[in-house]
Parts: sequence; C-alpha cells; structure tokens
Amino acid sequence: MGSLLVPFFFFTFFSLHSISPLQVSASANSTRHHHKWVGPTGRRVITVDSRGCGDFLSVQAAVESVPENNKEKVIIQIKAGIYIEKVVVPATKLFITFQGEGREVTVIEWHDRAADRGPNGQQLRTYKTASVTVFANYFSAKNISFKNTAPAPMPGMEGWQAAAFRISGDKSYFSGCGFYGAQDTLCDDAGRHYFKECYIEGSIDFIFGNGRSMYKDCELHSIATRFGSIAAQDRKSAEERTGFAFLNCKVTGSGPLYVGRAMGQYSRIVFSYTYFADVVAPGGWDDWDHTSNKNKTVFFGVYKCWGPGAEAVRGVSWARELDYNTAHPFLAKSFVNGRHWIPPGDA
Ligand SMILES: *[C@@H]1O[C@H](CO)[C@@H](O)[C@H](O)[C@H]1NC(C)=O
Ligand SMILES: *[C@@H]1O[C@H](CO)[C@@H](O)[C@H](O)[C@H]1NC(C)=O
Ligand SMILES: *[C@@H]1O[C@H](CO)[C@@H](O)[C@H](O)[C@H]1NC(C)=O
Repeated sequence: MGSLLVPFFFFTFFSLHSISPLQVSASANSTRHHHKWVGPTGRRVITVDSRGCGDFLSVQAAVESVPENNKEKVIIQIKAGIYIEKVVVPATKLFITFQGEGREVTVIEWHDRAADRGPNGQQLRTYKTASVTVFANYFSAKNISFKNTAPAPMPGMEGWQAAAFRISGDKSYFSGCGFYGAQDTLCDDAGRHYFKECYIEGSIDFIFGNGRSMYKDCELHSIATRFGSIAAQDRKSAEERTGFAFLNCKVTGSGPLYVGRAMGQYSRIVFSYTYFADVVAPGGWDDWDHTSNKNKTVFFGVYKCWGPGAEAVRGVSWARELDYNTAHPFLAKSFVNGRHWIPPGDA
C-alpha cells in the first residue's frame, strides 16, 4: 500500500447532483447553504465504440473531448467491447457518467502493478496502478466493468498491488458495475461514494482507502488462495468522517479471509444485514501491524449479519455486534449525505 497524499473534496460549492425539479427548487433557496446552484445545466450524450460506429474509439478520447470546467451532464455511452486502455478523468471535468451496456459486456482494462515503472522511471506504487482513475467530483458509472488484468500474486510477493479503479472525487455514484483485480482492486481513496448492486472481486485488501462510502446490495467476492482480506479503511483521526458502510451485501468466494483491516489508526468499517459464506478467518478482523494498539481506536462493527461465516465476524472483542442506535448512522444514505446528491430512485 502506498501512502501518496491526495486532496480531499469534502467541501464543495456544488450542493446537488440531480436535476429533479424538486431538488433544484430546494437548492435555489440558498439562504441556508450560502452557496448558489451550480449543478449541471443541460445534458449531452457522446458514444464510444471500439468498432468505429461511435463518436470516439477510446474512452480516454471521449473524456478528452469534455471541456475543462464542464457544466453539462455528459453521458459517455460505451458500447459493448473490451477497451484496453488506462483512463484518467481529471478534476476539472465534472458531471461525467460512464454508461456501459452491461457489466458482462462493456469492460475497461489495463495491467499495471505497483512495482512497474512509470514514464519517469520511478515505480508506480499502488495508487497509480489503477486502470481507471477519477479525480473529478460528480462522476458516475453504470453497467460497466473495470479490471486490472495483472496476474494475482502468490502470498508474500511484493509490488503486485494492481488496482482496477481509483475514485478520488467527491459525490460519486456507481450502479451495476464490476471491479476485478486481485490485490487492492478498488481504491476508494477520498470523498463520498455510493455503490449499488456492484460486484467487487479481489484477494488482499480489495477495497481500500480513506473514502466515506456506502456499499449497498453488492457482492464482495474473494479469490484469495491462502489468505485474503476484504476491506482496509484508512481513517486517520477521530475527527474524520470517513469509513466504509456495507449494507445488505453478500460475501462469497474463497478464504480464509479477514473482513476488515485497520489501515488507519481510526479505521471505520461496519457490515450490516450482510451474508457471509463460510470463508471468514477465525477472529475475522486484523489490526494491521499488531504494534500500534489500533484495536483501541478503530471502529469495527457488525449488525444483523447472517450466513455460515457470520459467527467468525464477531470473533474479536473490538469488533462488536452493534445495537440499533449505534448501527443507525451506517444504515442509510445519509452516511454519505446522499439526500443531497443521489436522486431518490437511485439509492
Ligand atoms: C427560502 O427559505 C426561507 C426559509 O425557509 C423561506 O422563508 C423563503 O420563502 C424561501 N425562498 C424561496 C425563494 O423559496
Ligand atoms: C443496467 O443493466 C440492467 C440489467 O441488464 C438493466 O435492467 C438496467 O436498466 C441497466 N441500467 C442502466 C442505468 O444502464
Ligand atoms: C491489541 O493490540 C495489542 C498490540 O497492538 C495487543 O498487545 C493486545 O493484546 C490487543 N488487544 C486485544 C484485546 O486484542
């Protein structure tokens, strides 16, 4: 895991994502929020088709065509196909949606590993391996898959972190997406994010970073061969509002595996109403380094989880079965302030 510093996008002048009339009128009344409506105005659709029947042949070319400080909602329709390219959405290009034709058929993939060298001769390190990286706010992706096709490392091998996707922008929404990799598949780096009905596959820390995210109705699928782990959350202080809330998810695949690891001193991870197959390692959770007493400062919890692996998830004293009041903040989209930027039908 690298320790690259990244900007936070928690404070933004944009208050809304949706352009539903109800929300626009609420936002137009700025007496309470002290900032005016500057969400997307208008809507444009452009198409990417690897067979040449669209506006662009590659996803990156379509992204390049979006003007800096874009104000329109831009839907990039990506036709079925495998797009072998590394894609970056820069911070200046807001309101972009990647719309695939289904996560089985529209795929963007690349194959960088942390130990590979970049153009400057330096090792890339984990955060720069992502096949697709998004720095912009108000990004969304629907019905598309992101892969890192570097081969899975054997346990103990160094430098094989290989991310499929990195989200560093705020207010980002994903539905029906697939994320495929092995070690460090999904870099949930910074900002508020909502993942709905997604499929996330990997072996070690395959969801990691310091995002403030809700994962609802997702499948978390382990391909670990000797030992694996699902989530490594990097909250660094008690003041940070970051954390991963898994709600109504399904944990499948091979094990044994830790369900959460304390990447940051104040790591925060909660699983609620989640099914665990019989793949959870005894103890269920890991404090990362066994020296910094993270087991005293993390917030790990479970609420009404089930399945053959559910008992092991309650395996350490510092990952509690929560009561309703404690679990409550992790059960609704308000965890990511979703009421202000996720259209009601999408949550
Ligand atoms: C804005 O909100 C205030 C307080 O809720 C209300 O009195 C006012 O009529 C609203 N203005 C508009 C334009 O909606
Ligand atoms: C995504 O795919 C599902 C299943 O194929 C379909 O029902 C749904 O309408 C699609 N949604 C979007 C936003 O593409
Ligand atoms: C907490 O972690 C420390 C090492 O960081 C260890 O010595 C201690 O036994 C752990 N406590 C529990 C309750 O697991």
